[in-house]
Amino acid sequence: MEEKKFNQIGVSFKGSGSYVPDQILTNQKISQKVDTSDEWIKSRTGISERRISSLGDNVTEMGYKAALNAIEKANWDVKSIDLIVLATSTPHDLFGSAPSIQAKLGASNAVAFDLTAACSGFLFALITASQFLKGGGFKRAIVIGADQLSSYVDWNDRRSCILFGDGAGALAIEATNEIDNFIGFDIRTDGERGSFLNLPSKNAINSITNNIDFLSGGFAPIQMNGQEVYKFAVREVPIIIEKLFKKTDYSSDKVDWLVLHQANQRILDSVGDRLKIPREKILSNLEKYGNTSAATIPLVMDEAIRNNRIKQNDIIATSGFGAGLSWGAALIKWG
Ligand code: UT7
Repeated sequence: MEEKKFNQIGVSFKGSGSYVPDQILTNQKISQKVDTSDEWIKSRTGISERRISSLGDNVTEMGYKAALNAIEKANWDVKSIDLIVLATSTPHDLFGSAPSIQAKLGASNAVAFDLTAACSGFLFALITASQFLKGGGFKRAIVIGADQLSSYVDWNDRRSCILFGDGAGALAIEATNEIDNFIGFDIRTDGERGSFLNLPSKNAINSITNNIDFLSGGFAPIQMNGQEVYKFAVREVPIIIEKLFKKTDYSSDKVDWLVLHQANQRILDSVGDRLKIPREKILSNLEKYGNTSAATIPLVMDEAIRNNRIKQNDIIATSGFGAGLSWGAALIKWG
């Protein structure tokens, strides 16, 4: 790769895109499979329905469509893209799905790779890409969050199957030498509490020859301790956002939008209350899509940008959290 030099100091936000599968799974339909009800799911989570991938809606396809959308909004030539980071826990190819997205886009000058941090994935990917841009050598990046958790949900487990759906979102970000709209960030993990939410490998013993066994690959369905994840989120998310405010000399009253990982409406409300950010500033599309893991943040942002809610120069506090356990926050100015 030809070495490029930019005198860049910051990052600006140029476009957003998203994609969700057509297939809609309502609470009503879930209640035909497990012992639950629309009323229970809505009141405990805020979710009414979610999208489920059908054949052809894998992470590569969904991520590609979201990325293309963001590139069109940014009005970029695909050849000008230097970096593609795909946050996903459910790649179409375990060796990495980002290069397939690169190929489908025709972004032949980009380097593309996957990053896994479950529901914090998009935030971690956004931070990673921003550091590449600020470090020099990379000018334009597409950051994608895409997941297809429906393939790994235990559809007989009413404690978890009600939450998840599929989708993808993407942001186009650019290095700049004039402004820095990526104001600050903080990220954390705590593997000690990792057992609260897992999608573990599940191996079967098979033989290669008479005395050599191998473990064939596969994954068990999602295992979740909902109450512990809930307590973790409502405790850690306000703390990390407040720490970030302190570090960047910002405060709740300077924030136009709180964009949290869409896990549960009660988590969103509780975090908003603790930060004293009013409900009308908290973006939510849980009702329609549920928890789409790495896709939630760019999906809800893209919707708000298209609806002219998020506007140029709006200050956005965003936080991702989930399996790992992992969590983080970033403060950005849109535009
Ligand atoms: O990206 C991160 C992903 N994970 C999360 O965000 C999970 C965060 N946690 C949550 O969102 C909530 O804990 C849940 C929505 C998963 C569960 O809500 P909850 O208010 O914590 O319910 P609970 O686990 O305390 O269960 C209360 C009762 C139990 O019955 P008993 O023991 O009181 O008789 C459950 O068996 O509700 C029962 N229950 C259900 N009932 C009807 C659990 N799931 C269901 C269900 N329908 N789907």
